[in-house]
Formats: sequence, structure tokens, C-alpha cells
Amino acid sequence: MDVGRLEGEAAAAVAAAASSAALAEVESAVLGKRGPLALAHRQLGSLDPEERRSAGQVLNEARRRLEALVADRRAELAAAERRAALEADRLDLTETRVVAAPMARGHLHLVTQTQYELEDTFVGMGFTVAEGPEAETDWYNFEALNIPPAHPARSMWDTLYLDLGEPETVVLRTHTSPVQIHLMEDQPLPIHAVMPGRCFRRETPDARHLAVFHQVEGLVVDRGITFGDLAGTIETFTGAYFGPGIHSRLRPAYFPFTEPSAEFEITCTICRGEGCRTCSGTGWIELGGCGMVDPAVFDAVGIDAGEWSGFAFGFGIDRCAQMRHGISDMRALIENDLRFLRQF
Ligand code: PHE
Repeated sequence: MDVGRLEGEAAAAVAAAASSAALAEVESAVLGKRGPLALAHRQLGSLDPEERRSAGQVLNEARRRLEALVADRRAELAAAERRAALEADRLDLTETRVVAAPMARGHLHLVTQTQYELEDTFVGMGFTVAEGPEAETDWYNFEALNIPPAHPARSMWDTLYLDLGEPETVVLRTHTSPVQIHLMEDQPLPIHAVMPGRCFRRETPDARHLAVFHQVEGLVVDRGITFGDLAGTIETFTGAYFGPGIHSRLRPAYFPFTEPSAEFEITCTICRGEGCRTCSGTGWIELGGCGMVDPAVFDAVGIDAGEWSGFAFGFGIDRCAQMRHGISDMRALIENDLRFLRQF
């Protein structure tokens, strides 16, 4: 028997085994009880003792070398199979995103931007920011503000009523002044707050008015507050928000909830005070109303007007945006024309 050829063929079969299972088959075929080596071993019995020993030795050495080859190949295949299994089990955690076109991104509406800038300006001056409801009872929108039912001053605000409760008792607030009342009822004194929000009036929109618009209210209640504090606050705000060169002035006016009351005007932002069509040649533009809190309002909320005094002001946020950006017609703010909105 040619043990050398047998060993060579067996070694080639071991090397060719492509998987652990295939190797197991090769192993039992070559080294198993019915394999050629076992068969050759059984045939040793027919040899004489001398030959038997040396042939046995040759067979045993061949078996040991083949066993070593099988063991090496088994380890090799096991490692490769383990790598393949791990690869197959691997979780792909790479985040993939299909980007067809750059995502379109919106931005805040000019009025919202303006409101936030106004809030920032007042926060920088030491005010807190508060909000109140858009639907109010007659008491908050009018009565507590010293405007009793049927008072002629009611005609200053063209009011939208809600169909709730007794007729004409619930309104869409016509100004942010009712938030003053909520604050004075709910918060401990002193108060230094601004209150931005949406307001509603029964009006036909035109270049300078909207039926749904925004105001920011200011309220300071503290000890020893004077008209000088009011004028200084308005002037500081005007410079801080509109920039150097834009100033404020106060002109006598009437509001039921302040006494004395004033209208406040700022340098016309279009002509910067020279006089133009927008400001009717005066160089000034009206922004809002203000005054010292009327003692009747303090009475309505139970604040001692002997100990405390205060001022209030209110003006249009939309009007501010219009003036700061030279928007000729305020209705552009609500038409949702992207060509307009994208400019801000
Ligand atoms: N609420 C007033 C208005 O809308 C403005 C104002 C506020 C006036 C505060 C004086 C004090 O017309």
C-alpha cells in the first residue's frame, strides 16, 4: 500500500474542505474506522513482525500528521465561520437620509419677530413679560379700567362681542389694558411688566389699521412713581428700539384709565424728522397712549392709591413693524404673500 500517496490525497481533501461540516465528512472518511488508514492498519496482521512494526510506524506517523492537518483546518474554518456569522448579525446603525432637495425652512412672521424684539428691549430695561386672555368680560376690558357701561369713551373702541352669557358681557379684548387689571389682581406689588398680545376691533382694515392687530402694554406700579419716570421710560425705549436719532414726545390726550394721559409720538422714521407725507410734514408719528394710572383703576383692584402710584402705556406692535421697515400698507402683514414675508 502506498501510504505516501494516500496521505497526499487525504491532505488535499482536508485543505479543500470549505466548511466545518465538509471537514467533518473528510475527517471520518480518511481517519474513521472504515477509512483507508484503518483498513491498512487491519492488514498489518498479515505481515511478519519486523515489517509489521515499521509499516505500523509509517501508518501512525501519517495518521498523526493528518490529524494535525485536520485540527489546523478546523480552527481555520471555525474562525472564518465566526467572522461570517458576526458580519451577518451586525446591526447597521448608520443613519441614512435621502435628500432630494434642500429642505425648505420657514421663519417667524415679521409681527412675531417684532414682538420678540420689543420684549427683549423691555426685558433689558428691567421689565418682566406677562400675558392675558384674548376673550374678556366687559369688566376687565372696560369697567375696571374706569369705563362704566354706556360711558361715551366706549366709542373709542369699536368692540366685537362674543355670543356668550348675557348680551354684550363678553368681548374680544379691544386692547391689552385688561391684562393690567389681571396683573394688579394677581401679583404682589411692585409691578414692572410688559404685556404683548392680540387685540380685536370692529374696523375695516386700511393702510394704517387692522381689525386683528397686536399691542404691547406696559405697567409700572411702585412707590413714588412720577410722570418723569413715564417720560424717561418712553424715551429710553424709543432710542433702544428704533436707534439713535429717533426720539419721543408726549402730547396731552384722554384715556379713562390714566390721569393725566398722553399720546406718545416718535420721530418719523421715514424722513427722520424732516417732514414728509407719512408724518403730514410734522416730523412726528403717533405710536401709542400712556399716562399715570388713574386712582379709580387702583380702587377697582383694591390698591391703596395713597401708598402706590404708577404709569401705563400701550402701543401697536404691527405699527412698530410698519414704521421700522417702512411698510406703506399694513394689510401686507396679513395677506400671506410670501414675496413680502420672505423679505424679513
Ligand atoms: N389701551 C389704550 C388703547 O388701546 C392705550 C393705552 C394704554 C393708553 C395704556 C394709556 C395707557 O388705545
